[in-house]
Amino acid sequence: MAKSSPSLMDKLVSLSKRRGFVFQSSEIYGGLNSCYDYGPLGVELKKNIKELWWTAMVYERDDIEGLDASILMHPRVWEASGHVEGFTDPLVDCKSCKQRFRADQVDTEGVCPNCGGELTEPRMFNLMFKTFMGPVEDEAHVVYLRPETAQGIYVNFHNVREAARQKIPFGIAQIGKAFRNEITPGNFIFRTREFEQMEMQFFVKPGTDEEWFEYWKARRFDWYQRLGVRKENLRFHEHAPDELAHYAKRAFDIQYKFPFGWQEIEGIHNRTDFDLKRHQEYSGKDLRYFDQESGEKYIPYVVETSTGVERLLLTTMVDAYSEEEQRVVLRFKPQVAPIKAAVFPLVKRDGMPEIARNIVNGLRKRFRVFYDESGSVGRRYRRQDEIGTPFCFTVDSQTLEDGTVTVRDRDTMAQQRIASDQVLPFLLDKLQLD
Ligand code: GAP
Repeated sequence: MAKSSPSLMDKLVSLSKRRGFVFQSSEIYGGLNSCYDYGPLGVELKKNIKELWWTAMVYERDDIEGLDASILMHPRVWEASGHVEGFTDPLVDCKSCKQRFRADQVDTEGVCPNCGGELTEPRMFNLMFKTFMGPVEDEAHVVYLRPETAQGIYVNFHNVREAARQKIPFGIAQIGKAFRNEITPGNFIFRTREFEQMEMQFFVKPGTDEEWFEYWKARRFDWYQRLGVRKENLRFHEHAPDELAHYAKRAFDIQYKFPFGWQEIEGIHNRTDFDLKRHQEYSGKDLRYFDQESGEKYIPYVVETSTGVERLLLTTMVDAYSEEEQRVVLRFKPQVAPIKAAVFPLVKRDGMPEIARNIVNGLRKRFRVFYDESGSVGRRYRRQDEIGTPFCFTVDSQTLEDGTVTVRDRDTMAQQRIASDQVLPFLLDKLQLD
């Protein structure tokens, strides 16, 4: 029987492992379902994605402040937020093959899509991971691993506002781990039980929320250009009333066209005053804002933007992947690429390795760069293409005469010569943010 060719996802999974982007967690023990570890290249890619987000959301603005709240929070937070009661998915089990499904993802009502057996009635399953604080494992000591980072921002609304002397409208941004006991994780790192969110909560005067919602929708969609994701692979999806999360008045997803279909990569939500109002009620603390200009006191509305680091890592890999006759290339935008430059001596003699190492030393305080002297230059180029390194610099015999090196462009494969002391300015120019 003819073997079917591997799918794009299979190829990415294999490349991720072989080149050190993503490994399965606890692999030597057979792996832990839906948990992943990020290798030398994966960790760089994640770091670059986070930096691009943080730059756009915090550094480039006067009206957004950063925060890093703890993962474990007071259990009342999750009662107030509605997660204890409402953060549930309907779960069904197959009575024959025992497989589990999310009821809303099964098209064949009452019938197992795996074996055709009978499904149980749906029961609601809470997605929060529970653990215990301290040595006593009873209900009084239950704490949750946060299922979203947003609540850490709401409970710090006044702390941040006062410390940073911000006035409404302003926002708080945070990058941090979140955990969800998903019933059906899958599609590699697309849906996992442990992941990292990049969330921003923008506090506005009630009545101006719809305008700000449109503003953030547009800003966030545009940001994907920075990430180098092709526009034709992005679209908005508005949530129908039955899709809206318990806190949202209106919500749009930014979706990406994955090999397994259009799927959410970011959510933009109008959360109204739901969260702050509930925290005011449950904590007994006044969470209103006093508007000095109008003399009014009100609970601000919140426009939230929320995306996941690993999901964007997958997005950038899918979007960048291309196969050509002679090579596989990850066409990452240079700002996103895990390694910014590789430096090669053409041969391992005549002082070329020393010159190449000097160039590397002049770059490594700024970027992740790679020195490689093994194999033919052609093979060295291919190895860098496959991990998306945008520029390769080669020291050759002409370098010994006139001090120039070749720069080879990953995408066009064109080569040019530049002075070896121009390598740093060349890269700084290419890596500037647009
Ligand atoms: N605070 C709002 C919130 O959490 P969400 O739509 O549930 O909203 C926001 O999640 C983003 O977090 C998603 O667009 C996705 O990028 C990421 N995300 C959510 N669940 C995830 C999971 N199980 N695995 C990986 N990423 C996830």
